[in-house]
Amino acid sequence: MLEVSGLRSGYGDVTVLRGISFSLDHEIFAVLGANGAGKSTLLKTLARLLPITGGSLTFRGRDVTQSQPHRLAAAGLAYVPQESNVFPDLTVAENLSIGGLIGTRTKEERLEELFDLFPALSARMRQKAGTLSGGEGQMVAVGRALMQDPSLILLDEPTAGLSPKYADALFSMISTIHRDKGLSVVLAEQNASKTLAIAHRAMVLNLGEVFVIDQAANLDTDSLREGYRL
Ligand SMILES: Nc1ncnc2c1ncn2[C@@H]1O[C@H](COP(=O)(O)OP(=O)(O)OP(=O)(O)O)[C@@H](O)[C@H]1O
Ligand SMILES: [Mg+2]
Repeated sequence: MLEVSGLRSGYGDVTVLRGISFSLDHEIFAVLGANGAGKSTLLKTLARLLPITGGSLTFRGRDVTQSQPHRLAAAGLAYVPQESNVFPDLTVAENLSIGGLIGTRTKEERLEELFDLFPALSARMRQKAGTLSGGEGQMVAVGRALMQDPSLILLDEPTAGLSPKYADALFSMISTIHRDKGLSVVLAEQNASKTLAIAHRAMVLNLGEVFVIDQAANLDTDSLREGYRL
């Protein structure tokens, strides 16, 4: 699905990611690490929103190191940013329609599937996205990405700020979309224990470098604590 080799990127003169390598299969792959470890920078780089200054990126067998973000979206990669991930002045329906612009299946078909996943959204279609609760807003952000019919979805801390009930619902939804829709998932999270419960493998980032990559079942609290140490 994704081959990441020696990836370097950052912001202007500041290099944040220093030689990240991993390959992503058809799986839920967690990206863990302390605040500032580089999780969001990695996801933005994978979505091709930050310049790659070293290494290479291959998506579904094609070298996309220098590709434009819209090309990756069209090729099946959807990205849900950590912040500002809905258009607040547009309605829920309009936000979802934007995702539906990519792909060939009808919008109605995709919406029906989405309402199966997030039944609460169907009653909110005419509401401005900016007036939704945190949990509802995250559903719209993830929903917009799913409307693209992606094969890979990058989720940046989708449960941040959500109550445990909403967070649990979102984690279970992530398992469902992987299992039933066949999506691969890269999931950046702070909530390590709940993330490891649904992930197949996980990577712990420390100061822009890979601290460890392993099967989720092999990562215990002690190994995580060490990876989170600055
Ligand atoms: N726009 C920016 N310009 C310069 N440096 C930035 C920018 N955004 C992030 N950084 C720096 O990059 C490093 C990694 O930040 P990043 O947002 O990727 O961390 P993170 O792991 O997502 O953290 P969090 O868990 O707090 O979301 C930090 O040192 C941060 O200060
Ligand atoms: Mg982040």
